[in-house]
Amino acid sequence: MQGDGHAYAVRAEGLVKRYGEKRALDGFDLAVREGTVHGLLGPNGAGKTTAVRILSTLLRLDGGRATVAGLDVARQGREVRARIGLTGQYAAVDEVLTGRQNLEMFGRLFHLGGRGARRRATELLERFGLTDAGDRGVGKYSGGMRRRLDLAASMILAPAVLFLDEPTTGLDPRSRGEVWESVRALVADGTTVLLTTQYLEEADKLASRITVIDQGRAIADDTPDGLKSTVGGDRIEVVVADRADIPRTVKVVARVADGEPESDGTEPRVHARVTDRVAALTEVARALQDEGVAVEDIGLRRPSLDDVFLRLTGHRTETSGTDEEVAA
Ligand SMILES: Nc1ncnc2c1ncn2[C@@H]1O[C@H](COP(=O)(O)OP(=O)(O)O)[C@@H](O)[C@H]1O
Ligand SMILES: [Mg+2]
Repeated sequence: MQGDGHAYAVRAEGLVKRYGEKRALDGFDLAVREGTVHGLLGPNGAGKTTAVRILSTLLRLDGGRATVAGLDVARQGREVRARIGLTGQYAAVDEVLTGRQNLEMFGRLFHLGGRGARRRATELLERFGLTDAGDRGVGKYSGGMRRRLDLAASMILAPAVLFLDEPTTGLDPRSRGEVWESVRALVADGTTVLLTTQYLEEADKLASRITVIDQGRAIADDTPDGLKSTVGGDRIEVVVADRADIPRTVKVVARVADGEPESDGTEPRVHARVTDRVAALTEVARALQDEGVAVEDIGLRRPSLDDVFLRLTGHRTETSGTDEEVAA
């Protein structure tokens, strides 16, 4: 499990987890370099949470092996737990207490003592941009503040490896941006982060490497740029008012597209891969105007998880609504 010159904070080989007949993990492999953010990208039900729970020793594996911080998760659970932090989709913070009180309570649970816990709470509120909100009840926090407090709570003991399971799912774009800032700050301090997400853009923004998981297996492992070039980068999308204009629109879009423009026939929409985003948009908008085609909408779209899946597996993700717009 070693010897290629890199230090790995997490290594997993052939992980298997069964629930009855169902294999939530089915030979899952992962290698996370120390000091990086590694994205684990996949749709609902792919096995992300199962992988995180096994790596953080909350679940027993049925096959394969894994190490975290060089320790075997199956045989050295206690040592592993002393070196990790975990933030799940559900925050463990108490609504009635203030942010500061929550952090102090966690500090005492981890035996920092009264003064140590107070000092750590102050540091963490500062680090996660919650100093002003620290003395307000958590019940009044926004979604983004809640998640940041949750991150702060998982950082009480400055873990070597932090598992973040979909830390921004359900957040609005602004709160999502705030959580991203916090994750960057963690890594600047030397923590290794394994972050699960359903958003390609999130993995792209934060991770230096991305593993794509589908049906309990890694189906790709690459840098964000490598993955995006597999997927083909940005797309232009044109919606026309009149379906009869689709053939003309396809011709116009074809001039700037990489490959054939696509149009599925059920919607008055034409889309295609492009390399030079802005030039493509300007050219298509002008040409359609010259042709007298009434355009309902025209825009550029970054590839989504759905696009990644279509390229890698030939099928779409089963979850709907992955056409997520994330503020850049
Ligand atoms: N406790 C459980 N009992 C039965 N099936 C489960 C259980 N937990 C997860 N699964 C199944 O395992 C698969 C992977 O789930 P999960 O790891 O939660 O995926 P993700 O986090 O990527 O959405 C899903 O098909 C899910 O229904
Ligand atoms: Mg999950």
